[in-house]
This record gives sequence, structure tokens and C-alpha cells, in this order.
Amino acid sequence: MIYSQILGTGGYLPERVMPNSELEQWVETSDVWIRERTGIESRHIAADDESCSDLALNAAQQALAASGISAEDVDLIILATSTPDQVFPSTATRLQQRLGVPAGTIAFDVSAACSGFIYALDIANRFIQTKGAKTALVIGAEIFSRILNWEDRGTCILFGDGAGAVVLGAADQPGIISTQLHADGRQESLLNVPWGVSQGYEALQGVHGKVTMKGNEVFKVAVRTLGQLVTDTLQTNGMENSDIDWLIPHQANIRIMEATAKKLNLPMERVVSTVATHGNTSAASIPLALNVAVRDGRIKRNDVLLLEAFGAGFTWGSALIRY
Ligand code: COA
Repeated sequence: MIYSQILGTGGYLPERVMPNSELEQWVETSDVWIRERTGIESRHIAADDESCSDLALNAAQQALAASGISAEDVDLIILATSTPDQVFPSTATRLQQRLGVPAGTIAFDVSAACSGFIYALDIANRFIQTKGAKTALVIGAEIFSRILNWEDRGTCILFGDGAGAVVLGAADQPGIISTQLHADGRQESLLNVPWGVSQGYEALQGVHGKVTMKGNEVFKVAVRTLGQLVTDTLQTNGMENSDIDWLIPHQANIRIMEATAKKLNLPMERVVSTVATHGNTSAASIPLALNVAVRDGRIKRNDVLLLEAFGAGFTWGSALIRY
């Protein structure tokens, strides 16, 4: 059997930090409200001349350096994003060229909103297990600040920009123990950007290309779905709560993360949380959190990690990993 192993991680956050107090200037909100309801204190915002591939490039270079892998040895790039540089080519092929990953290798983007990184990781794992690739670069990169309605206090306070990356290599031990992916398109309107290339402004009667969300309803579905997902993931793998060293959730809202940890009977000390300073960076949030906890020494080799995400679609998924 061939398995995938995480060889190294990387992350990048734009330089500009936007504290909650800045948001108080243009929407009716307060630092206290945002902290209490979401756990967010600040987020990073990309510079006007920064693109998704700029963020991804920095995160990918750091992950390659941590892995001791050179760009020439990468044979698969999967990049999860909802905010690509262009309609096409994909941001992944742009990254391939900018990193110096050889021509002829595989590179493509994945769109699964906030679950995008778990989707990308699952696909890369399948490539490695079926000998379609030996070394994969898996990235989540987002500039959500470009698709936020800065006058909507229900959404603009939640999101931030950033990129996270992992390098996966083939190994004879897992590595990635199991993954689960799910989707249900029936409640699309609860969380979306209701504009796209084939569905123009006219068709949507002036709704512009910004995030719209019924936060309260999304919250309830997320808590219910993630609780079920983590329980299923453990059951499917014959594991107990106590087998998990670290829960690395999608960083949407501290209250959703606390509810999932409670479902698993895990104390918050075993949950990697970056939501306070990153906000919700969508597809980038899990690899960014993973990278932080690897670099500060909390996550050690052989630790068992449970990654979980929930996002627009709805999409959701998990990955159980021996690091
Ligand atoms: N500042 C101050 N008040 C705000 C506010 C803000 N930024 N945003 C909303 N409110 C107000 C609402 O208008 C409402 O006022 P009302 O009672 O006078 O109508 C009140 O606060 C409660 O709104 P509600 O939406 O019920 O709050 P909430 O506790 O559900 O918190 C979210 C709102 C958005 C923080 C929360 O629902 C959430 O995090 N949802 C999940 C979002 C998410 O994770 N999305 C991504 C999934 S990947």
C-alpha cells in the first residue's frame, strides 16, 4: 500500500492587519460584539496589488523549504480557492510557472468554498495512493476582502485573507488515514456570492458579486453537520475521542469550534485556534492553522490530527492524519 505523508507546511498572511476597531468606523458594530459572537479580534487584508497567486506562492515556498523538497520534484499542484487570480487559466497553473514546477506536471484549482482545502487534500491523497503522483503541493489561498460587502455587518466582520500549504509525499505508512467529503446543494442561498461569469448582474437584478449569508441559519447547520461529521469520522476508523491529539477545525467562528470540540469531549487546549487573529480565511484557514501549530511546536511527528471543514454549497469534509 502507498500512503500520503505531510512532509512540510507553510503559511502566508498579508502584512496589513485590520483590527475590529477599524470596522467600527464604517458599519454599526463593536469590538466587543465581534469578539463575543465570533472570537475574532483582527484579520489580515491583502494589499491592492496582491493577488491570490502571490499569497499562494509565499505559502508554497515555505512549505517546500520545510519539506526539503525542490520545486522540480513536485508533480501535482492542487489549489483550493473561491477567489482565483483570473477566470482561467487556473491559479494553480500560474503558481506552477511562478514556482518553477516543471512543465508537464498536473496543476488545477478546486472550488468547494471553505471546505476547499479538505477537498484538495483528499484528491491529492488519491493521486498519490494510485501512483498518479509522488509529491503533491496542496494549497488553500483566498482574498475574501475582494468579495465582501463592506457595508454588511453580518459578513464583513468575519473574513480575512491568507494562504496555507502542505507538501504531501508518498510513504509506506499513513500519513493520511482517511478522508470524508460531502456536499448538499439544496441550501445554496444561505451562503453564496450570487454572481458569476455565466450568470450576470441583469439576471440577478443588481445583486453584485459579494458574499451574502444568513449567518444564524448557517451557524445552526454548521454546528449540527460538523458534530455528526467528527463522530462519523471516528466511528468509521474505529477510533475514540482520546485517540485525537489535535482538532484543527475550519476557523469560522470560535463558538462553532467550541461546539465541535464539546461533541468530541476535547478540551479547547487540544483545538488549534487561529480565528482570533486570522478571521475566516475560507479554504486557507485549515492549512494556516496547521502551519501555526507545527511551527510553534504544539504538533509533533506521530500526533493524530482531525481536520474538519464546513462551507458554502453546502460542502463539508474531514481528514484524519497521523502527522
Ligand atoms: N455587529 C453588531 N450587531 C450585529 C452584527 C455586527 N457585526 N451582525 C449582526 N448583528 C445583529 C443582527 O442585526 C441582530 O440584530 P437584531 O436582533 O436587532 O435583529 C443581532 O445582532 C443578532 O443577529 P444574529 O445573526 O442572530 O447573530 P448571531 O449570534 O447568529 O451572530 C454571526 C452572527 C454571523 C456571527 C453568526 O451567525 C455566525 O458566525 N454564523 C456562521 C457564519 C459562518 O461561519 N459562515 C461561514 C461558514 S464557512
